[in-house]
Amino acid sequence: MVLLMRKFVIGGNWKMNRGTAQETKEMLVPFLKAVHTLKNVDIIVAPPFTALQTACDLIKGSMVKIGAQNMYPEVKGAFTGEISPVFLTALGVNWVILGHSERRHIVASETDILIFKKVKAALAAGLTPIVCVGEKLEEREKGNTEEVNRTQFEGSISGLSATEVTKIVIAYEPVWAIGTGKTATPVQAQEVHGFLRNLLTKKYGADIAQQVRIQYGGSVNDKNAKELFSQPDVDGGLVGGASLDPEAFAKICLIAAEIRK
Ligand code: PGA
Repeated sequence: MVLLMRKFVIGGNWKMNRGTAQETKEMLVPFLKAVHTLKNVDIIVAPPFTALQTACDLIKGSMVKIGAQNMYPEVKGAFTGEISPVFLTALGVNWVILGHSERRHIVASETDILIFKKVKAALAAGLTPIVCVGEKLEEREKGNTEEVNRTQFEGSISGLSATEVTKIVIAYEPVWAIGTGKTATPVQAQEVHGFLRNLLTKKYGADIAQQVRIQYGGSVNDKNAKELFSQPDVDGGLVGGASLDPEAFAKICLIAAEIRK
């Protein structure tokens, strides 16, 4: 088995909170200044589609990469209102968040099979997908946390080849912790991250499973990041609310950089 230190990955998901060119400048200019020396963490900022061009222009020459929050699993065609992965790469976008719980449960009823198709299409276009999984509060309360995460893993990830799976990032995002201020405790996060890594091990073997990065998402901020990121199977965070504050988001990236130097 190869023992390695996985590089942290920190994503900032702006959701639909900032999206104009002006807002993008106000967010990114101070943030880029604060993180420009960090090399040992993958940092991704994911603004809405309308801000991608501005964001891609602003990050030129920095280590920060830009991600989209969604895409369609076809390259071209009659899909009104949708965005092709190759439109994203043409802009200079390198990452894409797929299967976020707000798309699974609120805006689009996205299914595992659709998310799997998106993951395949993203990889084919050369994008790195962040694939989100996570249980709702009532599912956790019924004792179904593992079952829900297993089903989502099997439906949206485990059809990938071993080579493909090492190119994705998994984000464990308990739905009850997103935007609620109710962070999973470090122990709760580690339990599910460990469970997901076990699923990876069973399917792909330990060498591959050890290479796949699993982020935690759900009310991560500059106060709780250190403890969460210190868990052995937590390889960074997908940050919503706190990524809207350039100073707090930079702090979270600096915390990650300190833990795995
Ligand atoms: P939050 O969002 O940090 O505001 O809880 C996380 C996410 O949805 O990715």
